[in-house]
Amino acid sequence: MQTVKMGIIGAGLRSGIAKYWHHPDGDSQVVAVADVAAEKLKAFQKNINEDAFITTDYRKLLARDDIDAVAVLSPDFLHEEHVIAALQAGKHVYSEKPLAITVEGCDRILEEQKKSGKHLMIGFNMRYMSMYQTMKGIVDSGTIGDIKAVWVRHFVGHGGYFYYHDWHGNSKNTTSLLLQKGSHDLDVIHWITGAYTKKVSAFGSLDFFGGDKPNDLSCPTCSEKDVCTEYSAHTLVECAFREEIDVEDNNMLIMEMENGIKASYLQCHFTPDYQRNYTFIGTKGRIENSELEGKVYVKTRKSHSWHEYSDITYDIKKEKGSHGGADPKICKDFIDLVLYSKKPLTTPFAGRMSVAVGCAATESIRSGGKVVDVSQESTLRVN
Ligand SMILES: NC(=O)c1ccc[n+]([C@@H]2O[C@H](COP(=O)([O-])OP(=O)(O)OC[C@H]3O[C@@H](n4cnc5c(N)ncnc54)[C@H](O)[C@@H]3O)[C@@H](O)[C@H]2O)c1
Repeated sequence: MQTVKMGIIGAGLRSGIAKYWHHPDGDSQVVAVADVAAEKLKAFQKNINEDAFITTDYRKLLARDDIDAVAVLSPDFLHEEHVIAALQAGKHVYSEKPLAITVEGCDRILEEQKKSGKHLMIGFNMRYMSMYQTMKGIVDSGTIGDIKAVWVRHFVGHGGYFYYHDWHGNSKNTTSLLLQKGSHDLDVIHWITGAYTKKVSAFGSLDFFGGDKPNDLSCPTCSEKDVCTEYSAHTLVECAFREEIDVEDNNMLIMEMENGIKASYLQCHFTPDYQRNYTFIGTKGRIENSELEGKVYVKTRKSHSWHEYSDITYDIKKEKGSHGGADPKICKDFIDLVLYSKKPLTTPFAGRMSVAVGCAATESIRSGGKVVDVSQESTLRVN
């Protein structure tokens, strides 16, 4: 059996997925890791592979001949630099979402991939979740007809913890959370409808997080830790009300898509609960999911056939592994892509298009809600 030898760039929270690539007797092994923080490298060795080569300079990892493929798990603003350098070093690349934080950055990546002839896969693990594969299957079967309307609510109940206590809270690192967190949802909307977005208009603001606390304030040393609702005793401890925070925590986006589809997307970071709620309305019916109940509901309208006599509820089966079982599947698909050129469920161009919508929506928000055209690039397009 051939073995794909992998290097990881970025040994932070997301690097937990490296365990799905490290199978010493299997078809992939993680042999090296790079991170600027030495303590992250030590933890990675302890958790994943104690013999892994470690370096604080990712270029040293890329220079190794024993590495076939690289996973870029660094913060968003570094994806462009790391993905392009890895492709130029002749490695196949798995890049976490978002592909980059600008459309131009995505296009530079796509051009580099074309030149390199190497595989590039974007980490849209929602496409590997049973819930969303079920919804995609129902829509593709034609049961609800041609999709005309989409409505998505994303309650990011842990928003304070994951997005305002570290680098995510500053637009220079992410552009916006509508782009960074929303890149998954915008992609799922594109994927399930089979259509890309043409125009957007959006409103958003920072209604809860951010403020006037010093940028170097951290929770453990804060005098208000006993009364602060966002006090964090975990890994991420930068103050959620610090001055530098400038990414909206409450976003409303409307989208005009191809095929006459209209979509809306709400993303709010201070809800008490965490869930994503999707509705697709077609000419023959409607589907909606409940992540909390693990169900997808199908409702059909009058059809002059037996279809109108009953609605259907799907119970989504639980899968093993992080992100509802999606992470082991997406990691396996990357290895199958490298070894057998097996097509994964995602495309780099889809990665580019979700960034393009995120950028256009951010521009709209920050200019009072004006309608913004989404950058299209037909020569590189793949559905
Ligand atoms: N698909 C998903 O479900 C999912 C989930 C979580 C995170 N992510 C993505 O994964 C990426 C990483 O997120 P995270 O939560 O692990 O962040 P993190 O901050 O926990 O980890 C990032 C790591 O990169 C390291 N780093 C910074 N600069 C570096 C450099 N120049 N060279 C090498 N390493 C460097 C940091 O020290 C840190 O250890 C993000 O782009 C995020 O969007 C995706």
